[in-house]
Amino acid sequence: MPDRYAVIGNPVSHSKSPWIHEQFARACAQDIEYGRIEPPLDGFSAAIDAFRAGGGRGANVTVPFKQEAFRYCASVSERASEARAVNTLLLDRGAPRGDNTDGIGLLRDLEINLGFVLRGRSVLVMGAGGAAQGVLPSLRAAAPARVVVANRTADKARALAARFEGTTGCGYADLAGQSFDLVVNATSAGLAGELPPLPPARPLFAREALAYDLVYGRDTPFLDFARAAQVRASDGAGMLVEQAAESFFVWRGVRPDTRPVLAALRKS
Ligand code: ATR
Repeated sequence: MPDRYAVIGNPVSHSKSPWIHEQFARACAQDIEYGRIEPPLDGFSAAIDAFRAGGGRGANVTVPFKQEAFRYCASVSERASEARAVNTLLLDRGAPRGDNTDGIGLLRDLEINLGFVLRGRSVLVMGAGGAAQGVLPSLRAAAPARVVVANRTADKARALAARFEGTTGCGYADLAGQSFDLVVNATSAGLAGELPPLPPARPLFAREALAYDLVYGRDTPFLDFARAAQVRASDGAGMLVEQAAESFFVWRGVRPDTRPVLAALRKS
């Protein structure tokens, strides 16, 4: 019997995680089965209880359950504790444990796949919800010169920034005249086809800047905005594959090669 894993979210039917983990398992000769679980919005813990009872060994957690997964776990890793969210559940030994591989996934995509070194750079994170909270600890740990969090509701950005040393929060209007080497879109604006109210692309994007959207598989208005100003732009496909690889490593103790999987995902 293969070991059972799954991604849990709502909606989850378009998730690429089953396909990605299938590629990893084949390349690493791991006998696993990886499915999808889509509980109703109030059915997260019941669904995970049932999955555990049926022998499920681990799960990836996606929108909107990452904060609930954090509360579900009896213990969590330091990186999950900082993000206050869990995207990786370990269910195979005793009480459920939680980890968060989103931040390291973003870092690996930026620094290894895209060759963007964060040390000493200035970083703007747009958004102050769960996605921003999930990636801020790792961005901070990579020693950028400064990190600014901007949000439509400026007070939320200030409250989030106050939790991380060297980070400041503000509204979009406060960005006028400022320049950044990296601008990360951690808002859900793109899913609604909207662009956060940013000031003009110059000087917002410094020379050689990178625009990065955590959303994958679609050209958001933010990526279009960056490209129209000749700014290098990337969606979150690389982060998706890298966070999956880290989860795979946490579960199986084997680190898959992400390059062929990311290349195949981009092609499709
Ligand atoms: P997630 O877990 O994906 O971060 P969330 O917690 O609901 O989801 O947060 C969504 C984020 O996107 C928030 O920062 C939100 O801004 P507000 O806090 O001001 O609501 C931001 N957002 C959503 N739509 C937006 C838009 N059209 N323009 C700018 N920001 C937007």
